[in-house]
Amino acid sequence: MSNPVSIAVVCFSRIRQQQAKDFCALHKLPILKTKNQQYDLQLIFHDDLVELFDSALNTTISIDFINGALAHRQQFGGGRGQAIAKAMGLKSGITPAILDTTAGLAGDAFVLATLGCPVTLIERSPIIFALIEDAVERASLSDTFQAILKQGFNIINTDANDFITQQLAKSRAKPDVIYIDPMYPERKKSALVKKDMQILQRLHGNDDTSSQLFENALLYAKKRVVVKRPLHAETINKKRPNTSIKSKKTRYDIYTIAKM
Ligand SMILES: C[S@@+](CC[C@H](N)C(=O)[O-])C[C@H]1O[C@@H](n2cnc3c(N)ncnc32)[C@H](O)[C@@H]1O
Repeated sequence: MSNPVSIAVVCFSRIRQQQAKDFCALHKLPILKTKNQQYDLQLIFHDDLVELFDSALNTTISIDFINGALAHRQQFGGGRGQAIAKAMGLKSGITPAILDTTAGLAGDAFVLATLGCPVTLIERSPIIFALIEDAVERASLSDTFQAILKQGFNIINTDANDFITQQLAKSRAKPDVIYIDPMYPERKKSALVKKDMQILQRLHGNDDTSSQLFENALLYAKKRVVVKRPLHAETINKKRPNTSIKSKKTRYDIYTIAKM
């Protein structure tokens, strides 16, 4: 992956020492005892939280499914009336199984899970995956999230192109919907991009495989492929969708394979 950012792991937790060491050995990352601004990104292990610190932005991000913005969206976000829910084909009596091939900070996947969809989340960055895994572990203590886990909220750290190719070869049961939310191209005015997305962009570098991902998704989805785009952006691979659902800043392009 062409990625010029420097990354280190900082472990403040005694009980997580071995976990942090194993993570560093696996991903060939240095392990530190204190923060060091020399590294662009620092994955920090606390006893009860894993978070990611961005030295340039002086900001830390982590994922929380139970409190904060995600929980607020679950309560007040508009339920099945939200653009993303309509794009996935949710209707009364229809709750598709979704493969989210670009999980990121898992916000979209969590919204869909709270609306009743079984979701499989694929994230290729081990750094971002560590944040998702930690959030799932913390949330598992709550009854609400236990219900979501029961319904299906599976997280996998791999490249989605590899995942789909392997699943196709094994002829595994196909997901109803495949969702792709590619990194938007870097904007010149970084103030326009939320800090968490700037951090994801930094990790992502120039390695955009969404074109291939789209072609693979069309082969693997049972009912539809949904691609998230900025409202006025070109369609992926210049392919015209069957229909689009729009919200204020976002467009969901829907490529239909079969009726829901
Ligand atoms: C724009 S973010 C997704 C944001 C997500 N929808 C959310 O709600 O937080 C794109 C994410 O997809 C991941 N990604 C990009 N290409 C991928 C691939 N081929 N396989 C798996 N993950 C990929 C990136 O690492 C990044 O975290």
